Amino acid sequence: MTEPNDLLRGRFEAPTDAFVERFTASVGFDQRLYRHDIAGSIAHARALAEARAITADERDAIIGGLETVRAEIESGRFAWSVALEDVHMNVEARLTELVGDTGKKLHTGRSRNDQVATDLRLYLRDEIDAVIALLDEVMAQLVDLAERHAADPMPGFTHLQTAQPVTFGHHLLAWFEMAHRDRARFRDCRKRVNVSPLGAAALAGTTFPIDREATAAALGFVGVAANSLDAVSDRDFAIEFCASAATTAMHLSRWCEELVLWASERFRFIDLPDAFCTGSSIMPQKKNPDVPELVRGKAGRVFGHLLALLTLMKGQPLAYNKDNQEDKEPVFDTADTLRGCLRAMRDIIGAMRPNVAAMGAAAEAGFATATDLADYLVRKGRPFRDAHRVVGEVVRHAQAGGIALADVPLDALRRFDPAIAEDVYATLSLAGSLAARDHLGATAPARVREAVAQARRRIADDGP
Ligand code: ARG
Repeated sequence: MTEPNDLLRGRFEAPTDAFVERFTASVGFDQRLYRHDIAGSIAHARALAEARAITADERDAIIGGLETVRAEIESGRFAWSVALEDVHMNVEARLTELVGDTGKKLHTGRSRNDQVATDLRLYLRDEIDAVIALLDEVMAQLVDLAERHAADPMPGFTHLQTAQPVTFGHHLLAWFEMAHRDRARFRDCRKRVNVSPLGAAALAGTTFPIDREATAAALGFVGVAANSLDAVSDRDFAIEFCASAATTAMHLSRWCEELVLWASERFRFIDLPDAFCTGSSIMPQKKNPDVPELVRGKAGRVFGHLLALLTLMKGQPLAYNKDNQEDKEPVFDTADTLRGCLRAMRDIIGAMRPNVAAMGAAAEAGFATATDLADYLVRKGRPFRDAHRVVGEVVRHAQAGGIALADVPLDALRRFDPAIAEDVYATLSLAGSLAARDHLGATAPARVREAVAQARRRIADDGP
C-alpha cells in the first residue's frame, strides 16, 4: 500500500495534521466522479502512449488496472481513504497497488487541476442529458393532458382574481413553454460544458507532446479549451448549469404553487393521486399535497447553490485555487434535487385527475366574460373606455342580484346600453368567449389543438 503521505509530500518534513487531512479531503463527496475520472485517465494514458511518454505495454497495464479499479468501486469492494484526499489520488494509489510502478506514470503530463475540471465537465454532461430527457418526458405529459382538455374552460387569473376564461389545455401549454425554454437553456449550457481541459495540466500546459484534440475526441468533447489557465480555473460552466437549474426549479415551484391551490378545498380543480399526498398525524380528514410543496420548497436550495458557486468564483485570481473543491457539493446537490423534482412533476402530471366541472363552474362564477361584453360593445361602435365603464356597471348590477353575466335579462342589459341585442348571449357564454380568442397563441380550443400538434413537433426537434 502506498503511504498516502508519500504521494505528494516529498518536500515536507512533517506529516499532515490529522484535522487538516480531514478538512482538506474531498473524497467523501467527489468519489461519485470515479467513472468520469477513470474515463479521463484512460484517454490520458492513450495520449501518453501516442506521445511516447509511456510504452504500449505500460498503457495497456494502466488501462487494465483502471478497469479493475472501476469494477472494485462498482462492486463496493473499494476501500476509500481520506488520507488520500480525493477521488483522483484514491484511484491512482489503488492502480499503483494493482500494476506496480507503472501506475505511477499515469500522472505524467497532467495535474489534478486539469483532471478535476475534466471530471466535472464529463459528469455535468451526463447530468444535463438526464435532465433534458426528464424535461422531454414532462413536456410530453403536459402536451397529452393539454390535448385532452383543449376545450375545457377554467378561469384564467391575474392577481389570483378571475380574469378571463381560458382552457385548461391552454394553461398547461403555458407550462410547456417554460419547460421548452428550460430545455433550450440546458442544451445551450451543454455546448460550453462539453470542452476538454485535458492537457492544460497544472496551469501552463505540459512539456509532453500529448494530442489534446485526440483526448478530447476520445472523451466525446466537441473541442479543446483554448487557454490552459482558463481551462483549469473557471467554473462558469458549472455556474451556467446551476443557473439553468435554478430557472427550471423556479418554474417547477410556480407550477407546484398552482397544484397546491388547485388541490385545495377552495378550488377543487384537481385531485392529486393519493400516492403523492400524505395524511396528517392529528387531523384525520387531511390529504396534504406534500410532493408539490416539497418541489416548491426545494427551489430554495437550488437557488442557494447558484449563489454559492458565484461567490466561490468571484474572488479567485488565475489559475486553480483550492476554493474550487467547494464547487462539487452544490453542483451534485443541484443535479440530484432537480432530477428528483422533474421526476416528481412528470409523475404528478401523468396521474393527477382534473375536475373539469369545478373548473368550468369557477369560470362561470367570476364575471370572467366581462371583457367579452366590453369587446361586444366596441363592435357595436362604442369606444373601449366607455364600454369598459358600462360593463363595470353591469357587473355591479349582476353581483348585487347574485347572478352571472349570462343570466342578466336582455331588457336589464339594454338599460345600460341600448346597443345590446339578443346576440350578446353568444358572447357571454364561456364557449363563445373561448372561441372568440382565435389567433396564434390564444386560448380558442382550435388554437390550443394546433399548439398541441406544434408542441409535439417541438419536443422532437433536436435544435435549440
Ligand atoms: N480535490 C481537488 C478539487 O476538487 C482536486 C484538485 C486539486 N488540485 C490541487 N492543486 N490541490 O478541486
